[in-house]
Amino acid sequence: MPAFAVIGAQWGDEGKGKVVDFLAERADIVVRYSGGNNAGHTVIADQGEFKFHLIPAGILWPHLRCIVGNGVVVDPNVFLQEVKGLESRGVDSSRLLVSDRAHVIMPYHVLLDQLEEKARGGAALGTTGKGVGPAYTDKVGRVGIRVGDLLDEKFLLKRLEVVCDQKNALLTRVYGAAPISLEETLGECRRYGRELSQFIASTDTIIQNALAEGKRVLLEGAQGTLLDVDHGTYPYVTSSSPSIGGACVGVGIGPTAIKKVVGVFKAYSTRVGSGPLVSEIQGGMGDVIRQRAWEYGTTTGRPRRCGWFDAVAGRYSAQLNGFTTAVLTRLDVLDGFESVKVCVAYQVDGKTLDHFPGSVSVLERCQPVWEELPGWDQPTASARRLKDLPPGAVRYVRRLEELIGCPIHLISTGPRREETILVRPIVV
Ligand code: IMP
Repeated sequence: MPAFAVIGAQWGDEGKGKVVDFLAERADIVVRYSGGNNAGHTVIADQGEFKFHLIPAGILWPHLRCIVGNGVVVDPNVFLQEVKGLESRGVDSSRLLVSDRAHVIMPYHVLLDQLEEKARGGAALGTTGKGVGPAYTDKVGRVGIRVGDLLDEKFLLKRLEVVCDQKNALLTRVYGAAPISLEETLGECRRYGRELSQFIASTDTIIQNALAEGKRVLLEGAQGTLLDVDHGTYPYVTSSSPSIGGACVGVGIGPTAIKKVVGVFKAYSTRVGSGPLVSEIQGGMGDVIRQRAWEYGTTTGRPRRCGWFDAVAGRYSAQLNGFTTAVLTRLDVLDGFESVKVCVAYQVDGKTLDHFPGSVSVLERCQPVWEELPGWDQPTASARRLKDLPPGAVRYVRRLEELIGCPIHLISTGPRREETILVRPIVV
C-alpha cells in the first residue's frame, strides 16, 4: 500500500511538474493535495508543452487516474478551462476526479484577494491574486462552499444566504466595493455544479481502497515548504500546507501509508512575491540566473527573485518533511560559472545560526555565510548519466547532499523527460 509524496523543498517553482510526470509513469493514481491555481506546473511530454495550474501533472500518462484532493481549493472556471485545453490536445479527461470535500474558490474570493492586497499597501504579500487565501480563510472560518455542495441546491442556497450577507458587509463597509448578488452567485454555482458533476466523487475512499489493493499513489505537492502556512516564512506564505503534513490531510490518508517522501530542490534559490530570501543576489549574477533560466512566474509572469542555494533552508526543509530522497533540478543553469556559492549558515546579531529561524523579523536581518565551490566548464545540460557530468558539478551535488542531509537520487538536466539522471533508483 505505498503512497509517495513529491514535495517542493524551497519556495515553490522547483520543477515539481517534471518530477511528478517522470515518477508518474510507474504510479496508478496521482493526487494533488494542496494549493489552488496559484501553482503552475510545466511538463514537456511527447505531446508537447503543458502548463497545469490545478490538474495533476500526471494526467499526461494515459494509464493513470488523476485526483484533485480535498486539500486543494478549486476555481471551477480554471478547472473546466484546463479540462477543455487538455481535451483539445487529445488528452482524455474522463480519468479525472475532484474531491467532494475540496473547497470552491468563488468569484468573491478572487475579488477579496485583490482588495486585501491593495489595502495592505507597502506590506503587501505579493499573492497571486487568484483567491486562494480568502478561500482557505473561509474554509477555516467554516463559511466555505465545498465542491460537493454544488450538487445540493437547497443546502447551497442556505449556505450562500449567510455567506453573501457576510461578504457584502465586508465588501461595502470595509472596502467600499459594490455588493455581490445572491441570485447571480447561486446561478454561477448551479453552472459549476452542472459542469463539474461528472468529476465529483468521494475521492478519499477511492484512494484508501486503492492503497488497500496495493496500488501506487503519488501525492503531488504544490508551492514549497518555505511557503507553508505553519512552517514557512510567516506571514509571507501561502494559506495551505505544502509540506508533508498537508499531504495526509489534503488527501485523507494516514502517515504510515507514505513510504517515500521526495523533496524537490532547485540547484539555486528563487522566490516570487514578498518575504525574506537570505541567499538572494541583487542584480549581477541574480539577473544572469533569471535570464538564463527564464525565472518568470508560470501563473503571474512576475520576475522571480534569484539567489544561490540556501543550505540552511534546505536542511530545515529536509528535516521537517523527513525526505527520504532528494531531486535536484535545473543544474544546467549553473553551467559555465567560474565558481558557485552555497549559503551554509546565517549571521545575525553577531551570532552564526545553522538553523532556520522561525521569525521573519530575525530572517530579515540575517546575512548569508557563503561557501564558494569551483564551477564547471563543460555543460551538464541534457546529460543522462552521472558519469557524463563534469567533476565540478558532481562535487557540487555531493556537497549539497551533505549539507541538506539527504541523498540526491535524481538530477534534472533539462525540461524533457529524458533529460534526467537517475543517480540511484527511486522505487515508486
Ligand atoms: P497566494 O498563494 O496567492 O496567496 O500567495 C502567497 C505567496 O505565495 C506569494 O508570495 C506568492 O507569490 C507565493 N506563491 C503562491 N503559489 C506559488 C507557486 O506556485 N510558486 C511560487 N510562489 C507561489
